[in-house]
Amino acid sequence: MTTADDRAAEVVRNYDDLVPVLGFREYWYPVCLASEVSEKPLAMTIMGEPIAFLRRSGKVYALADECPHRGTRLSLGSCQFPGTNTITCAYHGWTFDVTNGRCVAALTAGPDSAVNNKVTVRTYPVTECQGIVWVWMGKRAPVAPEADIPELLRRATVVRVVQRYTYGNWRWHVENPGLGHALMLHRSSMYMRVRNYPGIARGIEPRLEETDCGPWLCEYCKEIQMAAEYPGLGVWPQPGSAWGLVREDMSPQFGVAAKVSMRLPGITRVTHFPINGALYYEWFVQIDADHYNYFQIACGFPKTALERAWFLWRYYTWGRPAGMIRFNRQDITMVGESERFAKRHQGRWNGPTRLYEPDRFQIAWRDYALRYARDFENGRTAQERVEAGRGR
Ligand code: FES
Ligand SMILES: [Fe+2]
Repeated sequence: MTTADDRAAEVVRNYDDLVPVLGFREYWYPVCLASEVSEKPLAMTIMGEPIAFLRRSGKVYALADECPHRGTRLSLGSCQFPGTNTITCAYHGWTFDVTNGRCVAALTAGPDSAVNNKVTVRTYPVTECQGIVWVWMGKRAPVAPEADIPELLRRATVVRVVQRYTYGNWRWHVENPGLGHALMLHRSSMYMRVRNYPGIARGIEPRLEETDCGPWLCEYCKEIQMAAEYPGLGVWPQPGSAWGLVREDMSPQFGVAAKVSMRLPGITRVTHFPINGALYYEWFVQIDADHYNYFQIACGFPKTALERAWFLWRYYTWGRPAGMIRFNRQDITMVGESERFAKRHQGRWNGPTRLYEPDRFQIAWRDYALRYARDFENGRTAQERVEAGRGR
């Protein structure tokens, strides 16, 4: 008979074996602000792949940032034929149509070069939504962007972004959210100190809920306790450590009742963060083996110019600096710790660590990811996937 503990251990083990270090590929990911992409190419690395983002005729395109001739970065190139959808490599002049990646000319060999229309460079589907550029990293045909970009984000009337080049791996950050860390780690932040912040969460209950276009793994909790007496140690949290000056809005927002929820390919959603009335999302987009782009998005829903001004004032004076920058920097620090730990243990995180009650949310995330990630939709059974993963 399989007990709940056995099942948890199996999930933990399988996750370690199967989940890609560079992230799930068959999804749309945020890349940068739309305003960062111009006619001049922007060089980025996503999931280990160098990609050049550029505009032609106002539209964003993305192509592999490696010239098929000698590997030079195409982002060093230029548009030699203004008004066309092309980019020309800086080295020998191979010229590519950015809409389909086809080499349409090799300038230094003359208009009748044999490579014309014979060579292509990979292009990536891209879209713009809410002032953000999104890229499809999958090998298969892209799903509609609306399937991956949450509906409430698309409905927001104000969107503000913070991006950070961050040391570590997306898997550690995706397992960071939840009460277990928030009640301890963030106590020392100014953002939390001004609140009346509890110390203990009992009976963590992860639940899948269809909200915000698709299933979200929501964190609920049976009992929140302000403080407790620890025999032989004393009371914790220490009285007076939270100031209780600010009321945190815990009410459901657009039907989302859970304060924190998660979704594939690794999105966190937090209600009323970084200010009351805002809805917050974060993606962890792996760049290379050691870094990811910590992509934070605050959404506001003001309807009038006055509401918008009030929202932005609260965002820029408090929410952004105290919440998204400083409070979330504490998370970054701990993800870096996890990365160093994983490196000391041959890249495996789970083996040497022990779990405790609030980790139910993290185990549920792993279970959810293993069950639902599009990358695993290849017709194989879970067992075959596990075996294939172990053989890798
Ligand atoms: S490397 Fe690009 S044209 Fe030669
Ligand atoms: Fe956190």
